[in-house]
Amino acid sequence: MPSSILRRAGARVRAGVRRAARRAVCGAVVTSVLAACGGGGDSAGTPPTEPRPPASADTFALRALATAKGIRLGTAIDRGLRTGGTAGTSFRALVARHFSSLTAENDMKHQRLQPQRGVYAWGGADSIVAFAETHGMQVRGHTLVWHQQNAAWLANGTWTADEARALLVDHVTTVATRYRGRIAAWDVVNEAFEDDGTLRNSVWQRTLGADYIALAFRTAAAADPQARLFYNDYGIEWPGRKQDSTYALVQRLLAAGVPIHGVGFQAHFQAGQLPPNFAGTLQRFAALGLDVHITELDVRVRTPSTATDRATQAQNYRDVVAACLQVSRCTSLTIWGVSDGDSWVPSTFAGWGDALPWDAALQPKPAFAALYAVLAGR
Ligand code: G3I
Repeated sequence: MPSSILRRAGARVRAGVRRAARRAVCGAVVTSVLAACGGGGDSAGTPPTEPRPPASADTFALRALATAKGIRLGTAIDRGLRTGGTAGTSFRALVARHFSSLTAENDMKHQRLQPQRGVYAWGGADSIVAFAETHGMQVRGHTLVWHQQNAAWLANGTWTADEARALLVDHVTTVATRYRGRIAAWDVVNEAFEDDGTLRNSVWQRTLGADYIALAFRTAAAADPQARLFYNDYGIEWPGRKQDSTYALVQRLLAAGVPIHGVGFQAHFQAGQLPPNFAGTLQRFAALGLDVHITELDVRVRTPSTATDRATQAQNYRDVVAACLQVSRCTSLTIWGVSDGDSWVPSTFAGWGDALPWDAALQPKPAFAALYAVLAGR
């Protein structure tokens, strides 16, 4: 039994759901979750004897617990959705069961959507939106304007201000119009600041200056008036110049009447190193009248990870959810992937990984039990 959190979550499940006892516990892990992860039966290999209840009545599902707390629980999907065979079926069942919001990890980025100038490729993005709609999930659109993962033709081109403005307006209008009314929230502008709080050197900043940010929000609002429009960044969970620059930006946009409705805190953390007073930071932005979303949560550990690492990670997941629950405008929390097998972390940070609540075999980790417990109010 890896942690006391896991034990507590397992015990409450056993106490509260006697009817489902045969599939309720496997060690201390919820067996119906194991089934959703591809296990298909209990710890002895016996198939479930009852049909699974519909998702809305599925009290084992994280999405039901989160919904009851007023939070959309999301995940980001990319490679996993396309996995074929049994693995893909199990993955998709798990996603539909535990999450009520989807973000395209890569498929709504410029590079994927407009690989050639004026030629749009919708396949990946469409499949994610369709999956979400089939399963009663919302979509967080990610991302309209960014300095990374722009198509080579854009990134390597030389543009006048007028050309850059036309390219930005065309891309934002085309994408937001295609999904008009079907995206709950768009990350309109992503990562506009350097870590020191100065405006990041990007194709947009070089050509249009800081004005590109307001232009992006106004253009997105014109194309999809129903979507909630977000500024999204990493590192702003910590007090400091980057957070303060973001706060000042948002204040300026609001004062100028620019349609911005929220700030996304990516929340890519290292185990054992959470920002101080994260709830206070969320509240600082919420007090401006904004929604605050946690948009890309993961908690990486050094690999190979130990049981102690996974217990610390579980506590960190718990603490982040608890911070969100303290702030009424924190209405959405997205985990940046499902399983350690799909995470972006190992390829970016050598020697780090295992950042997600399910392992590479789609088995729930202590972080899953911690999420379950905190969302269940335990
Ligand atoms: O799709 C190609 C594939 O065809 C090719 O064979 C392969 C070879 O490298 O690359 C594949 O593209 C990769 C893509 O992920 C899909 O797997 C890119 O190289 C790789 O750079 C890209 O990484 C993504 C990264 O953004 C790029 O900056 C990660 O998956 C994605 O998780 C990550 O997400 C970002 C958020 O958008 C913004 N916040 C930070 C977060 C983590 O970096």
